Amino acid sequence: MKAYLLDAAVAQYVHDHSTKPDPLLEELAKETAEVAGERAEMQISPDQGVFLTMITQLVAPAVAVEVGTFTGYSSLCIARGLSGGRLHCFDVSEEWTSIARRYWAEAGVAHRVTLTLGPALETLAAFDQTVDLAFLDADKGNYPGYYELLMDRMRPGGLIVVDNTLRRGYVADPAHDEATTVEIRQFNDLVIEDPRVTVLMLPVADGMTMIRKN
Ligand SMILES: C[S@@+](CC[C@H](N)C(=O)[O-])C[C@H]1O[C@@H](n2cnc3c(N)ncnc32)[C@H](O)[C@@H]1O
Repeated sequence: MKAYLLDAAVAQYVHDHSTKPDPLLEELAKETAEVAGERAEMQISPDQGVFLTMITQLVAPAVAVEVGTFTGYSSLCIARGLSGGRLHCFDVSEEWTSIARRYWAEAGVAHRVTLTLGPALETLAAFDQTVDLAFLDADKGNYPGYYELLMDRMRPGGLIVVDNTLRRGYVADPAHDEATTVEIRQFNDLVIEDPRVTVLMLPVADGMTMIRKN
């Protein structure tokens, strides 16, 4: 579990009292660690996976979008929460998403998922469907661009969930001026100043922001 913002005892307690990943998600996490090494850190954590499945069940989207698929953990959790809708996944990497494809097939959700490879700013700009639910977890510098493109396509009442918005807590420390932290800070400021939305930052994992289009 990524619990950068909790002390160890509380993190363990949260872990013990949250639903655990099933064997297929565990296998995906294991394979990702083997093939991606340190980059496996990009994968969402099991508690975030439970969160995404629940959110998808609650929103019941006809159209869901994920920006940043990697080896497929978050997309699998979203796809499993769908009840008849479709998940559109955007990523640049054939290598990583080929793993995701295998797991969608194994989980029996491949028929609910469409993958488009290419820079997501371009893919999103060409996407002409109304979006009910979006999960944003790609290159942080492009978050403002993804956000504006998504906002143009979200239905009123639709929900955007954004990952890594607390950057291990660095965003709250002005002494941290590393590029990604500055980018995330700017994105967080942009969102909270946007009168079109209601915003809730959750101190889950590395920070997840829920943004509801009013
Ligand atoms: C943090 S990982 C996503 C992790 C994934 N959500 C999971 O749970 O396993 C970020 C992903 O964004 C992709 N990415 C980076 N820049 C991108 C871009 N400009 N357009 C589309 N995808 C991009 C990377 O290839 C990588 O797979």
